[in-house]
Amino acid sequence: MTGQHASTPADPDRELRALLTRPHPHVSPLDPVPNGPPSRPTTTDTTSTDPTPRLQALAASLGQMLGHDDHETLDHTERVATLAARMAEHLGFPAARRDALVWGARMHDIGKLAVPGDVLAKRGPLTPDEWRAMRGHVEAGLAIAESLGCLPRTALLVLAQHHERWDGRGYPARLHGEQICLEARIFTLCDVWDALTQARPYKAAWTAPQAGAELERLAGQAFDPALVPAFLAVVTADI
Ligand SMILES: [Fe+2]
Ligand SMILES: [Fe+2]
Repeated sequence: MTGQHASTPADPDRELRALLTRPHPHVSPLDPVPNGPPSRPTTTDTTSTDPTPRLQALAASLGQMLGHDDHETLDHTERVATLAARMAEHLGFPAARRDALVWGARMHDIGKLAVPGDVLAKRGPLTPDEWRAMRGHVEAGLAIAESLGCLPRTALLVLAQHHERWDGRGYPARLHGEQICLEARIFTLCDVWDALTQARPYKAAWTAPQAGAELERLAGQAFDPALVPAFLAVVTADI
């Protein structure tokens, strides 16, 4: 792991809310956009509020609703949550920090509930308006997650930053490097790994070596280069 953390902003909650109003480009995690001005840094946060069992049930229900229209099903959500937990344990996170990361993983695409079903289900190229709607799932998800009022702040940051890239070409805020919180950098690896190694209606599953090579290729671009070897150690431990 990197061992470094961004400086603490004066008002973290204001920082988080600013993500909701910031203009954002239209890209997927693996599709960089042209470089833009860097955004203000955010920080990691190890404080945690235990979500209640009712919240767990709500998250599961939302995930099942999402699975009706999206290629990414509840199974995907559970797999990335499991991967995130394994990474947290590998990196020696205390329980509260691990749980916050896992909650971010569970809720990461909840904003797709606000994306029209025909856009989510579309298999061909998206129009600019459709991409705008699709990329809006980050802000929509953050609004939903914030409204629950009981998720750890780090979980909200994972949700807000899960499409940011190490090289600053992600969205919505074009954060780069350690401006992206560590948990979000970890989660992005989990999310992309699962997308690569699972079959989708439009592609076959990649093998672990193929997916590993892709993560290594994108180290320093999409991903924190210091995290890629740790992640690959985790996912290849039981192969
Ligand atoms: Fe997403
Ligand atoms: Fe995902």
